[in-house]
Amino acid sequence: MTVTVVTGTQWGDEGKGKIVDLLTEKTDVVCRYQGGNNAGHTIIVNGVKYDLHSIPSGILRENVISYIGNGVVLDPEQLIDEIRILKEKGVSITPEKLMISPKASIILEYHKVLDKCREQAKKDTKIGTTGRGIGPAYEDKVSRIGIRAGDLLNKELLQRKIKAALKEKNALMIHLYGAEPFDVDTLAEKYRSLGEELKTYILDSTFNFSDFIVGKRVLMEGAQGALLDIDHGTFPFVTSSNTVASYFPVGSGIPYNEGYSNIGLVKAYTTRVGEGPFPTEDFTSLGDSLRKEGGEFGTTTGRPRRCGWLDLVALKYVFKMSGFTSIALTKLDVLNSFEEIKVCTSYGKEGRVFRDFPCSIDDLKNIEPEYVTLPGWRSDVSKVRSYDELPDEAKDYIKFIEKELKTPVSIISVGPARDETIIRSEILLNKR
Ligand code: GDP
Ligand code: IMO
Ligand code: MG
Repeated sequence: MTVTVVTGTQWGDEGKGKIVDLLTEKTDVVCRYQGGNNAGHTIIVNGVKYDLHSIPSGILRENVISYIGNGVVLDPEQLIDEIRILKEKGVSITPEKLMISPKASIILEYHKVLDKCREQAKKDTKIGTTGRGIGPAYEDKVSRIGIRAGDLLNKELLQRKIKAALKEKNALMIHLYGAEPFDVDTLAEKYRSLGEELKTYILDSTFNFSDFIVGKRVLMEGAQGALLDIDHGTFPFVTSSNTVASYFPVGSGIPYNEGYSNIGLVKAYTTRVGEGPFPTEDFTSLGDSLRKEGGEFGTTTGRPRRCGWLDLVALKYVFKMSGFTSIALTKLDVLNSFEEIKVCTSYGKEGRVFRDFPCSIDDLKNIEPEYVTLPGWRSDVSKVRSYDELPDEAKDYIKFIEKELKTPVSIISVGPARDETIIRSEILLNKR
């Protein structure tokens, strides 16, 4: 068995979908192990665009199994929609190709309504969630009143659990948010019927993922990015799951092993969608250029992404806790036309210099990024397929990142399509 972990190191949207799809050429199983349909992973193959939210990015390959693990929160309504859209595009989805852990947590209607009500009530302290019910569904899991995928197949149990959950939810709906309460029978019937539609994909309660992957090549597909992690991110402007690389054994149910290949995805600049601190955010025309060149609009909500230069202070913080064996550097082509490229190497605030990421929103307030400036390459790298052919300035940018993060770059993505990639196999295969 070999395991490769692919996770985002920034605030999400680093290009995980593209890199996972690329690596699945030599993979048997792809597993999503945290997050939910707040994720939006875009893959472009033969000019066709596929937006994946709940389904792992291995689904486009005929011989790859996509597994939705126990750590995921799953919206059955949205999943059925996603399956339909993919099928309409000619993607084959069968119970042999898509498997769902019976332990995955279910997002129900009331989670989505609660997510939206809370955001509306917050006014100035909004998190800018995707409104998909992610936080409320994880809350129910942790408070042990959540509904799991396997429960959808047991009519009586489902009815009982929804009834118990609605006691609290309806009190909140009526008395706190002035919203419509939910009817137990209607909801129980709706989710029973959605469960019926998904029945063939949901595994039985004796299924064991670690037994299943013996002798297989497995790829763990992270969602979001490390700076959105519930424990380690810019709390409270984070998502509600653990997004750091080290969560995958928990979210999938396999043992941890030092021999795994652990790829950290670094976008060549930084983006963030939603609220929260972002030290290198650029409010000038430069930020607009990055957004335009990089097509930085959310896959899930369509919101424009906030943009700025690469932040090595934040990245060093993430790398220290992640143990990456190599880096996949994405969207290098987006920097093609810039005369100079800046990289933030420290922060300044009130006469003090910070080289360590202060993971407190108060300490991050009014922080001034301090930059090192490197020359741009001002040429199109999107046709380049080998590291040696890259312009010297692009190589210098890569070397600078490798030196600062003490980690080699194994994959360089120079465009959204599968083949727009430079693979340094000698680095990548070192740990696979
Ligand atoms: P994810 O959430 O990490 O999977 O990233 P998204 O799919 O949300 O956002 C990344 C966007 O950049 C998608 O539209 C990809 O098609 C696109 N993309 C990925 N890699 C590259 C690249 O190297 N260059 C360019 N120009 N676009 C890329
Ligand atoms: P991928 O996998 C970027 C952000 C939201 C919001 C915060 C909390 O495509 O990289 P939530 O709905 O999770 O409660 O929202 O997290 N967020 C993402 N930002 N990419 C994502 O996923 C995200 N998933 C959640 O914008 O700021
Ligand atoms: Mg995304």
